[in-house]
Amino acid sequence: MRIAVLAGGSSSEREISLASGQNATRALQTAGFGYVELLDTAATDFVARITTEHWDTAFLALHGAGGEDGIIQGFLEFIGLPYTGSDVAASVACADKDLAKLLYSKAGIPTPPSVAIVKDESYDVETIILNLGDQCFVKPADNGSSYGITLVKDGRYLDAAIRKAFEYGDKVLVEKRVCGTEVTVGVLDTGDLRALPVVEVCCENEGAEFYDLNVKYIDPAKIHRIPAEISEENNLMVQGLACRAHRALGCSGLSRSDFIVTDDGPVILETNSIPGMTDASLFPDEIAHTGDLTFPEACAQLIHAARR
Ligand code: DAL
Ligand code: MG
Repeated sequence: MRIAVLAGGSSSEREISLASGQNATRALQTAGFGYVELLDTAATDFVARITTEHWDTAFLALHGAGGEDGIIQGFLEFIGLPYTGSDVAASVACADKDLAKLLYSKAGIPTPPSVAIVKDESYDVETIILNLGDQCFVKPADNGSSYGITLVKDGRYLDAAIRKAFEYGDKVLVEKRVCGTEVTVGVLDTGDLRALPVVEVCCENEGAEFYDLNVKYIDPAKIHRIPAEISEENNLMVQGLACRAHRALGCSGLSRSDFIVTDDGPVILETNSIPGMTDASLFPDEIAHTGDLTFPEACAQLIHAARR
């Protein structure tokens, strides 16, 4: 079997994706697949190689625009190459945090109130503050790994934060800041839908106020807490909501949803259709804590469940 691990690309998460791709390549080799090669989708010969050479399956280790948003999925459908993970529609839904929140609400999954602003559309900062309060997160609607995110703690800085987020994309989400314990949970969907162990992200250990880019890719032992220090009830609730979010957005194969566990229960922030797979990433750490599954075994399951 010849497997192409697709990574890199030209999104702001390129370097993270290359690290995810290298890990996935090693894992698939460990799992015993005969030929596994990492292909950078931004390489000038990528389209020629993926279309003219013989490949059996593409393993997607791409993050962000062009790789996690339905574009590469549509291309692979078009050329008839099976690929891991979610289809075009689910990838689009996950990649747009605003659209994902509409689908969560429709499915009855609690998510913090928010406002979306499209480029060149006028907006009124005072009205946003009136509706959401003056503490909020401002994020590009379609970017990952916290690029362009600002935690606004004083409404006077909201406009600058919105402008900054627009440098990363054409749609910006302003989301009410909710306080609580930040946790994340992966879902593996290669047979029966299975929620992985919940991880708490302990940013305060590194002096960060939220799980931003500065703390995402440092030693996971300092940041990941498994099991999360939340009640058994909240733990089960978060795992159940992650499975419901996976279904509500139409995901397949894998996903990882991020939550804040508030005093009133968990609220969902987003679902990643291709979660990071670097050494410091949450998804492989969750798999390692299942006790009955290794990362190479999970990658092998994803190949066998690939869309064809
Ligand atoms: N977007 C990054 C890779 C993640 O969610 O893990
Ligand atoms: Mg993300």
